Amino acid sequence: MSSRSSCASIFLIAELVLLLKMLAMASSLTLDEEAQLFRNERNDLIQLRDSLSSTMSLHSNWTGPPCYNDRTRWFGITCFKSKVTGVSLAGIQLTGSLPLAALQNVLHLTRLNLSDNALHGALPSLQGLRHLQAVSFAKNRFSGPIPAEFLALPNLSQLEFQDNVLSGTVPAFEQQRLAVFNVSYNFLEGRIPNNSVLQGFPSSSFDHNLGLCGRPLKKPCFVAAPPLSPPVSPVGNNASGGPSFAATSSNNKSLTHWMVALATICFIGLAFMVTVCFVYYLKRYTKKAKQKEDGDLEIEVKSSQSMPGQEKKALDLMFVDQERAIFDLDDLLRSSAEVIGKGNLGNTYKATLESCQVYAVKRLNTMNGMSKKGFLQQMQFLGRIKHDNLVEIISFHYSKEEKLVIYEYISGGSLFQLLHDNRGEARMPLKWSARLSIVEGIARGLAYLHQCMPSHKVPHANLKSSNVLIARWSHYTNFQPKFTDYGFYPILPSTHTHRLAIGKVPEFSQGKKLTHKADVYCFGLILLEVITGQAPSDGEENLPGWVKLVINNDWSTDILDLEIVSEKESHADMLNLTQIALSCTDLDPEKRPAMSQVVSRIEEIRAANIEIR
Ligand SMILES: *[C@@H]1O[C@H](CO)[C@@H](O)[C@H](O)[C@H]1NC(C)=O
Ligand SMILES: *[C@@H]1O[C@H](CO)[C@@H](O)[C@H](O)[C@H]1NC(C)=O
Ligand SMILES: *[C@@H]1O[C@H](CO)[C@@H](O)[C@H](O)[C@H]1NC(C)=O
Ligand SMILES: *[C@@H]1O[C@H](CO)[C@@H](O)[C@H](O)[C@H]1NC(C)=O
Ligand SMILES: *[C@@H]1O[C@H](CO)[C@@H](O)[C@H](O)[C@H]1NC(C)=O
Ligand SMILES: *[C@@H]1O[C@H](CO)[C@@H](O)[C@H](O)[C@H]1NC(C)=O
Repeated sequence: MSSRSSCASIFLIAELVLLLKMLAMASSLTLDEEAQLFRNERNDLIQLRDSLSSTMSLHSNWTGPPCYNDRTRWFGITCFKSKVTGVSLAGIQLTGSLPLAALQNVLHLTRLNLSDNALHGALPSLQGLRHLQAVSFAKNRFSGPIPAEFLALPNLSQLEFQDNVLSGTVPAFEQQRLAVFNVSYNFLEGRIPNNSVLQGFPSSSFDHNLGLCGRPLKKPCFVAAPPLSPPVSPVGNNASGGPSFAATSSNNKSLTHWMVALATICFIGLAFMVTVCFVYYLKRYTKKAKQKEDGDLEIEVKSSQSMPGQEKKALDLMFVDQERAIFDLDDLLRSSAEVIGKGNLGNTYKATLESCQVYAVKRLNTMNGMSKKGFLQQMQFLGRIKHDNLVEIISFHYSKEEKLVIYEYISGGSLFQLLHDNRGEARMPLKWSARLSIVEGIARGLAYLHQCMPSHKVPHANLKSSNVLIARWSHYTNFQPKFTDYGFYPILPSTHTHRLAIGKVPEFSQGKKLTHKADVYCFGLILLEVITGQAPSDGEENLPGWVKLVINNDWSTDILDLEIVSEKESHADMLNLTQIALSCTDLDPEKRPAMSQVVSRIEEIRAANIEIR
């Protein structure tokens, strides 16, 4: 009895397992198909991107997946449920011609708007894009006929072709939803099809064409349906003059064609010249205006900024190293100061003393609740840590109103500036080898901090590209990164800790315990920033998730910053570094590597990189 029931249950389990396996197989199949559709969709968009050029640099913008968690990083794209539903590239001075089968795999497309550009060539057939509702090719230089395939798009409600050089006849659109239709300002000919849909549009939908006729234009068509029946070749009767008339009329026609074309070319040429002149002057004008504005701004900043707390009688500065106590707070307050950074913890000033020494002064804002003892002890402690990759703390000051930290001044700007400033304008690209040497330095500095501050929960806690300063001397080509703003976590009131870079670390927002691995996460974000060239945003955008998605889909080089993509021989190194970045940004702190491991992995990459050279 019991053996029978156990036997039966074994069968049941076996069956269940089989069922589960089948289910799994079925779902993996659809997943594969899904992935294939996704890939085809993307390929079409990439093909579109690569056949066009524009002022809006699509080539650097359309990278990675078009849709990501129902959001998109692609300019002009709309997504719904991870599918591309809209492509809107109106008025961005696109040039080039479209592939004939353009967008045919963007199966869920409902809106396509390419109006107001300078596209030429034939219209794409849009075959099979059954969801399309609004399509605009208006204000371009498209030529050739309106594709008959458009008749088979069932849901069309807006269709705009005005202001192109299209020829041929108007197809008999009969889509009942069609509410906007415009073919004016083209070179269309023949009868406007006599159906209730097309006859419902006003004359302005059709006028300014070469030879359209029909009721909307209040222009009767003389010959019955000329485009439908092939022209009857005139037979015999040379005497009646019929054939000769036909010949001259067709000559006339091609003559008018020709004249129209000539006039168009002249007009376009003239318009182009006018635009060029206009743009040139506009540029000059705005450049001048901008220069003026910048100048004003700088003067204003300089004149309005003197050291904070000027009127208060100063208390002492505490020096880490008494030998460097060659100035006091009064000197500092009398110095000329310039804001060089506005951070979450307070502003940083460049202070030039009368003796011409230069320091960076960080003024910690509104840090009420920070204990004096804690602050002084921590600054003494931090001041004694010396490393090539740490900005040195010279002295500090604590009073009820002011908390100041005086650092050595680093003139090369921050990694953030190095990566993101002047993009697009005259900019020195930051080469791969420089990037690699910078991240190696950062890794070493962080490993050192972790090693000499073992009891600190998060030794740096504020690691981000704007807090990595770059020391550079004109005769050195290499870049030496140095951290600033480190070591504040233990002394900040807990209400302020979210302002630090660790505010972005997953375990922070989940209220979990923080460890050294929180710094490792922040380091991973810097690596991704260096690799992709994408500035960190304040939004909830998830760069590690995006990168992972791209890598998993084999578009790995898509993530690379455009400035380093051309260094093909280093692609493998770049992707190796990406793998390190992804393990550093693992959601599980336990799975992130220790900084010492990261240093040796980066050193391996770097050693190979140097060997190549
Ligand atoms: C593309 O451009 C849009 C708008 O200009 C921007 O929001 C987006 O981040 C860019 N995407 C990428 C991948 O650069
Ligand atoms: C056509 O549009 C209607 C309403 O906008 C929608 O319900 C329907 O699914 C669409 N059909 C197709 C093929 O997209
Ligand atoms: C296309 O974009 C232009 C400019 O933004 C707009 O005026 C026009 O209405 C749009 N057409 C369609 C069909 O969405
Ligand atoms: C157009 O169609 C209407 C109604 O179907 C008809 O009355 C009219 O005679 C037609 N006109 C021409 C020119 O065929
Ligand atoms: C069609 O386009 C032309 C040129 O842009 C415009 O003047 C006209 O008003 C439009 N007609 C309709 C019905 O939209
Ligand atoms: C009509 O004229 C053409 C030359 O213009 C000539 O070759 C042809 O034989 C003529 N046909 C008849 C039927 O006269």
